[in-house]
Amino acid sequence: MNMQVAERERLSMSSQHAGQPVTRNDSANHELSIRVRDLNLWYGQSQALKNINLDIFQKNVTALIGPSGCGKSTFLRCLNRMNDLIPGVRTEGLVEMDGRDVNAAKMDEVALRRRVGMVFQKPNPFPKSIFENVAYAPRMHDMVSRKAEQDELVEQALRDAGLWNEVKDKLQQPGTSLSGGQQQRLCIARAIAVKPDVILMDEPTSALDPISTATIEDLMDKLKKQFTIVTVTHNMQQAARVADYTAFFHLGEVIEYNDTRMMFSNPHTKKAEDYITGRYG
Ligand SMILES: Nc1ncnc2c1ncn2[C@@H]1O[C@H](COP(=O)(O)OP(=O)(O)OP(=O)(O)O)[C@@H](O)[C@H]1O
Ligand SMILES: [Mg+2]
Repeated sequence: MNMQVAERERLSMSSQHAGQPVTRNDSANHELSIRVRDLNLWYGQSQALKNINLDIFQKNVTALIGPSGCGKSTFLRCLNRMNDLIPGVRTEGLVEMDGRDVNAAKMDEVALRRRVGMVFQKPNPFPKSIFENVAYAPRMHDMVSRKAEQDELVEQALRDAGLWNEVKDKLQQPGTSLSGGQQQRLCIARAIAVKPDVILMDEPTSALDPISTATIEDLMDKLKKQFTIVTVTHNMQQAARVADYTAFFHLGEVIEYNDTRMMFSNPHTKKAEDYITGRYG
């Protein structure tokens, strides 16, 4: 390793240790949303996350990239405690959201999952009408008291998800009757209907055609005005297009965390460079 790369790796590791990106994106918002410190996670005997330090900023898109099995989905699930649902999982370290420890005994998991919505790889609408897919959670959380209020909230969520014009005349049809790309936008409408702070997206476009993918990417760009988005992708062009910040995971560690443009134009670590340029994967 030459001196320049060694120095860059040292710099990268030291700033990563503080949770900060190596290079700040000056046009991004730097109010902290999620603060992760020394996070470790084991599935039984097998360690899947190793000493993760990461600051995630409000109203930005942060992309998680890295080879299959490196811990991206596991890390996402730490942010809304979905790993609690998996037997044999043990975690150490701190995950703070807006200054509050999400793993604290007094943290209400239902309230946490309302504040941190999730969209999965495969669109998974409930077996209910388009309307009910969006209306159900706000009603459960007592966010609407009158029918008119509920109608308004459903319309707004569908508009924000870029789906309203396509479904406004068939709100009572099953959510599963929509195309894959429309179903994914319905799932996004369902996630934003409860007005979360953060939306986690785990490969949200990998099951979609290129046009639906472009629609969702545009949507992410609009939604970040209202929400903090953390997304996983295997598509480097997508990370480069949508993300303000990118974190490169490898074998359970964050190897580099940086302003996306910097990550793609001048990665500070050889591992990130090899992965991004397709030499590793
Ligand atoms: N429920 C589970 N039980 C046991 N081990 C698991 C479980 N889920 C994930 N793992 C292991 O943890 C490691 C990280 O997996 P994870 O699914 O987080 O990777 P990933 O980066 O999301 O991969 P991909 O890109 O393929 O989705 C892998 O070694 C995986 O086998
Ligand atoms: Mg995954």
